[in-house]
Amino acid sequence: CGIIGYCGPKPTAKVLLEGLRRLEYRGYDSAGIATIKDAELTVIKKTGKINDLASVVPASLDGQYGIGHTRWATHGAVNDVNAHPHVSQNGKIAIVHNGIIENFASLKETLEERGYRFVSDTDTEVLAHLVEDFYEGDLEEAVKRALSLVKGTYGLLCICTEEPNTIIGARNGSPLVIGVGDGEMFLASDVTAILGHTRQVVYLEDNEVVKVSSEDFTTTDIRNTPISKKIENITWELEEIEKGKYPHYMLKEIFEQPESVKRAMQGRLDEEYATAHLGGLNMSTRELLEIEQVVIIGAGTSYYAGMLGAYMIENLARIPATTELSSEIRYRNPIVKRNTLYFAVSQSGETADTLYALRELKRKGGKVLGICNVVGSSIARESDGGVYIHSGPEIAVASTKAFTSQITAFYLFALLMARMRDLSFEDGLILLRGMKELPDRINAVLKQSEHIKHLAEKYSYARNFLFLGRGLNYPVALEGALKLKEVSYIHAEGYSAAEIKHGPIALINPDTPSMFIVPRDELRDKVITNMKEVKSRGGKVIALCTEGDNGVRQIADDTIEVPEVNRYLNPFLMVVPLQLFAYYMAIKLGRDVDQPRNLAKSVTVE
Ligand code: G6P
Repeated sequence: CGIIGYCGPKPTAKVLLEGLRRLEYRGYDSAGIATIKDAELTVIKKTGKINDLASVVPASLDGQYGIGHTRWATHGAVNDVNAHPHVSQNGKIAIVHNGIIENFASLKETLEERGYRFVSDTDTEVLAHLVEDFYEGDLEEAVKRALSLVKGTYGLLCICTEEPNTIIGARNGSPLVIGVGDGEMFLASDVTAILGHTRQVVYLEDNEVVKVSSEDFTTTDIRNTPISKKIENITWELEEIEKGKYPHYMLKEIFEQPESVKRAMQGRLDEEYATAHLGGLNMSTRELLEIEQVVIIGAGTSYYAGMLGAYMIENLARIPATTELSSEIRYRNPIVKRNTLYFAVSQSGETADTLYALRELKRKGGKVLGICNVVGSSIARESDGGVYIHSGPEIAVASTKAFTSQITAFYLFALLMARMRDLSFEDGLILLRGMKELPDRINAVLKQSEHIKHLAEKYSYARNFLFLGRGLNYPVALEGALKLKEVSYIHAEGYSAAEIKHGPIALINPDTPSMFIVPRDELRDKVITNMKEVKSRGGKVIALCTEGDNGVRQIADDTIEVPEVNRYLNPFLMVVPLQLFAYYMAIKLGRDVDQPRNLAKSVTVE
C-alpha cells in the first residue's frame, strides 16, 4: 500500500522507517525494509505497526540505499513472510510492490519449472525471481524484461547487491513519485513520505521506469526510449501532515473545516455577478451551455459528496444529474452520450475503481473532469480539467474535510451553471453570501464538540444505528452512517427518512437508536412524522436540527442544534456533528481512530 526508497548519505534504515511512519495513515497490516551496505542485503519485515517493525530493526543497521513498504494484503494472509520486501532466490535482489500481478499463477508455474522455490503466497515474489532470472549485470534491463511479461498493475522498487547506489522504480497503475534532494534521492508512493526531506518531486507516469542514484535519475519507457520529466514543487507544509495539538488526525481534520472550506472557495466567488469562477474546468461558456446531463462517479465518501453534488446541480442549475459508483459504472458498459459531462470525485486521486472508470469513460469519448485534493495525482492528471479542492493533506483514513470541500466544489459548479441558466442575480447572491458565511457557521458547530462527545458516550451501548435524512440531507445520512461504521465498527445504516417504513423500521427497538437529520427546511414536517413513527415503536431518537426548533425538541430524546442557514447549505452544518459523533464514539470504544482495521486511505487495487 505504501512505498519508500532512499539513496543517499543519511542512515538509510532510519529514513525508511520515518517514511513508512508517514505512510502509516494509508492503512496497512504489515511492513518491512531492505537495505544494502557493501553488497550485503538485510531484509526485516513484520506483521503489525511500524513500531513493531522498528522494534526489531537493530540500531546498528545501516545501509547505503534501501527500500521499504507497508502492505495491505490482497494475495495471501497477513504474516511476516508475505510482508514486503520480497527477495530473489539468490538473495541478491529485493523488491517492494503495490498493485496486483494478474498472471502471477502462470509466471509462478514457469519459474518453478526453472527451479525457483517460492516462500510466500504473494504475487510480488514472482517479480523478484523473474528479475533474477533476467539479470545479466544490468538491473534496469532485467526489471524491464521482467515487466514485459507481466500483466497487471504495479508501482515498484527494486534493488540489487551488485548495483551499489541504484534503485530501479517502475509504475503502471500504482503511483510513484521521485523526490529530488541535494546529494540524495527518494522514491515514494505518496509525497507525504518524503515531504520532510524535499519539496521537489517528479511524478512518474504509467509505463515509465526510473533509475535513481544519490546524485540523479534517468527516466525511460519500458522500451528504453528516454523520457524527460519536469520537476515540480509540492506546496504542502510539513506541519500539515503532523497532528499538532490534536490527539488524532481525524479530530484535527474535522476542526480544520472552517479553514479548508474557505480555501476551496478562495478566489472562486464573484459577488459582482453573483457567480463562481472555476478556471480549471477548461471549458468555454459555450461548451458549458451545451451540457445536457451530468454524471458523477466516486467511491466511499467521495461518492456521497457526488450524490449531494448531483442534487445541487439538478436543483439549482436544472440539469439532469446522477451519481454512480465508480466500481459499477466501469463494468456496465456505460453509454457515453455527447453533451454529458462526467465528474470523477476522489480525495487521493488514486482510487483504482475511480481511475479505471475514468479511463473507460474517456475511451468512449466522454469528457471527464476531476474533483481531487492531491495535486498531480493520477485522476487529476488524466481528467480533462477539474477543480482542486485544496484541503491540504488528509491523513486520517476516514475522510472528513475532503467531503466538505468536495461539496463546496459542487456548490460552486452548480452556482456557475445556474447563473448561466435560470437562477436570478438576487438568488445567486443569497447563496453566495451564505457560502461565504459557512466557515463561521461551521466554527459555531465545532464549539459544541463537548455536547456531541457526551451524546456519543451516552449512546455508545448501541450495536446498531440508523441515520435518516431526506433530500439534500439524505447523502449526509449515508455519510454519517459510513463514518460511524468506519471508525467505531458499529453497524450503521443510512436511509432516506421516508424509506424506513418500507423495511428498516422493523429494526427499531430501544437498543437501536436513530439519528435524524431534520433542519428547518421544506421537508422538516415530513421528517418529523418519520421521527414520530420511530418514537411510537420504542426507538430512541437523536435529532440534528436547526437551533431553537421546539417542535423537534418535543419529540427527540436528544438534540444537536446548528445555526440556521440557507436551506441549500444545511449539509455542511449537518455533516460536521456526525463526524464528531463517529469520532467520539470510536474513542469511547477504544478504536484505532486514524487507522481503522481493514481500511486503507486510498485503495489502489480494484
Ligand atoms: C477508501 C477510503 C475512504 C474513501 C474512499 C475513496 O475506501 O477508506 O475513506 O472515501 O477510499 O477515496 P478517494 O481518495 O477516491 O476519495
